[in-house]
Amino acid sequence: MDKYRVFGNPIKQSKSPVIHRAFAQALNQDIEYDKYAPEVDSFAQAVQAFIAEGGKGANVTAPFKEEAMRLCDELSEVAAKSGAVNTLSFKGGKIYGDNTDGFGLVQDLLTQGVSLSQANILMLGAGGAAKGVVASLLAEKPLSLTIANRTKAKATLLAEQADSDIVSGCGFDELTGSYDLIINATSSSLSGKIPEIPTNIINEDVCCYDMSYSKAPTPFLTWARQQGATKVIDGLGMLVGQAAKSFSIWRNHMPQVAPVLTMLRKELQ
Ligand code: ATR
Repeated sequence: MDKYRVFGNPIKQSKSPVIHRAFAQALNQDIEYDKYAPEVDSFAQAVQAFIAEGGKGANVTAPFKEEAMRLCDELSEVAAKSGAVNTLSFKGGKIYGDNTDGFGLVQDLLTQGVSLSQANILMLGAGGAAKGVVASLLAEKPLSLTIANRTKAKATLLAEQADSDIVSGCGFDELTGSYDLIINATSSSLSGKIPEIPTNIINEDVCCYDMSYSKAPTPFLTWARQQGATKVIDGLGMLVGQAAKSFSIWRNHMPQVAPVLTMLRKELQ
């Protein structure tokens, strides 16, 4: 049976095994998928050990996505652009790296009826999560992409790296524009906080998306609703979407996202 694994630390919370087993079941495929938390300094050895055991592929989550990129013999264009890898494939003694986070985000937004083409998009955060999705957002041809971060220098650097005239970077206190979509790519929800952005950029016409998810609405989405936003979306669909793309890279079959998303949503309640 083909073996897959997700690496991260911590990993207890990971839903990847449940998601991938559900995809395999729906497509009548036999796979093993488990989770493992290497010590922070032994990720590379853990991957090599998994390859030696016959592993076919792996997902990678925090804090190993950048290190995963350095392990790869070949990178997809998206992975190379995003500077991080969340999907490893082991074939013929080589390690191939891809990044499916941007695909998961874009697919979820489009499925939820949020149009990206010609949109003015604001992304909050300039860490690994933000970096991983810039290329996929730009591929949808928005009118503008503003990257705002608590530490301004990281936002301007990420904007420069995007190498596109529609991308700009700034600090939270400089935000004055009007946006169609605000994506929270900061890790603030994990600590129960919200990015300190001006309240007047949120109104009922702005879609607010949080890459985080939780049983209760995330702090950012709760706050966005309080400011008048009516369309708020959490990152559960992105999670299932990125997993579906990983599965298709490994197994050449694209699983359906919707049934697995419904199952996870029920489990969260
Ligand atoms: P990840 O891989 O989740 O992106 P990261 O690379 O450590 O993690 O980046 C975390 C991001 O969340 C950064 O943009 C960080 O802002 P700083 O660069 O200023 O540190 C942002 N972040 C974390 N907590 C935040 C908070 N409470 N308010 C605003 N931004 C926050």
